Amino acid sequence: MTHPRTSQTFAPPVMEARRWLDGVTHPADRPLLNVSQAAPVDPPPPAMCDAMADIIRNDPAVHLYGPVLGMPALRAAVAQQWTVSYGGTVTADQVAITSGCNQAFAAAIASLCAEGDEVILPVPYYFNHRMWLDMSGVHTVPLGVGPDMVPRAEDAAALITPRTRAIALVSPNNPCGVEYPAGTLHAFADLARTHGVALIVDETYRDFDSRSGAPHDLFTDPHWDDTLIQLYSFSKAYRLTGHRVGAVIASTARLAEIEKFLDTVTICPNQLGQRAALWGMQNLGDWLADQRQEILARRAAITDNFPTLAAQGWKLLGCGAYFAYLQHPFGISSADLAPILVQQAGVLLLPGTMFMPDDVAGGASQLRIAFANVDASDIAVLFDRLAKLHL
Ligand SMILES: Cc1ncc(COP(=O)(O)O)c(C=O)c1O
Repeated sequence: MTHPRTSQTFAPPVMEARRWLDGVTHPADRPLLNVSQAAPVDPPPPAMCDAMADIIRNDPAVHLYGPVLGMPALRAAVAQQWTVSYGGTVTADQVAITSGCNQAFAAAIASLCAEGDEVILPVPYYFNHRMWLDMSGVHTVPLGVGPDMVPRAEDAAALITPRTRAIALVSPNNPCGVEYPAGTLHAFADLARTHGVALIVDETYRDFDSRSGAPHDLFTDPHWDDTLIQLYSFSKAYRLTGHRVGAVIASTARLAEIEKFLDTVTICPNQLGQRAALWGMQNLGDWLADQRQEILARRAAITDNFPTLAAQGWKLLGCGAYFAYLQHPFGISSADLAPILVQQAGVLLLPGTMFMPDDVAGGASQLRIAFANVDASDIAVLFDRLAKLHL
C-alpha cells in the first residue's frame, strides 16, 4: 500500500470552515461576522498600489526570474532594519526572501529534517506548520503550554530525543495571540543550542507586538545563527497576502541548503511583491505604525468587552496580535459548535480542535477569533451575539 505525502495530513482548515457558509443565509440586520482568517481584507494603501502599477509599467525586470534567494536590495533592507530593531548584527547574506512565510517554514524544515525526525511544536499550533511536518514525514511532538498559553523550555527539555531537529515557536502567537516574553525565547534558544537543534521563531505578527522595543534579545548573541532561524511575512504588514512575500533569516550555510528547495519549488519569489515590500519598508513606516495602533485598539476592544462573555461562563485564554483565544462554556466540542455559530449567530470562527492533535485535550472547549478585520464596534456586536447563545 502506498501513502502519498499529501494523504498524511488533513484538509486546509480555512477552506473547510468556508464550506460551513454554504446554504446559510444571513438576515440583513445580522450580517456575517467573519473572524476566521488572519489575513487583511483591504488592499494595500493607494500610494503603494500606484507604486506597484508604476513598477509593472516601467521596470521590465519585474516580469523576469530573479535571484533564488531574493532581490539583493530587499535582503539588504531587511538586514539593516533587523540590525537596528533587534540589536546585534544581521547581514544581507543571512536573509532570504521566500514566497510567503509558509514557504519559509517549509524550506527551513526541508533543510533540517529527514523522514522520521521530530520537531517540537507548542499546542495549540499554527496548523500549516503541522501540515508541512506531516507531509514531510516528520513527527510533530506536541508541547503543552501553561495556563498563560506560553510554553516553557523546561517542559520542552523533557521531549528532546536523538531525532529532534527543531523547536518551532510562533510569537506573537497564532492562534493564542500571546506575546512570548523575551526570557522565554532566550531559554528556548539556550535549550536548543545545548542540544544542537534549531530554534525556529515565526514572527509573522512582529509588527503588531504591543511591547515597545525589541521583543527578544536573540540576535544580540554574535553566534545567533548557529541555532536561530527566524521567519517573517510581508503579508500582514503591507497587506500583500496575494503577492506572497516572506523571509527567512538564518546562517549563510543554511540559506545555501534552503536555496535548493526554493530553486526547485518557485525559482524566485514574486518580483512585484518583493519590490512592493521594499517600497513599503522605505515609505510606509508611519502608516504601519498607525496600523499597529489600530490593531492594538481592537485588542483593547476585546478585553474591554470581554465581561459580556465572562458573565456567560466564557474565558479569555490569550489575546494579542490578530487573535483572541477563548474557552466556551458549552458542553459540546468546538468542532460541532463552530458550524452552529454560523447558523445561529452569523459568526464564522475556527474551533480549537483545528489547532491541535485529536489526542491532546483542550481544543474541544476552545475557539479562535481573528479580529484584525473587525473594528471595535463589530467586536461589541460579536460578543453580544455570542453571549446570547443558549444551546
Ligand atoms: C504564524 C503564521 N505563519 C505564517 C503565515 C503565513 O504567512 P504568509 O502569507 O507570509 O505565507 C501565517 C498566516 O496566517 C501565520 O499566521
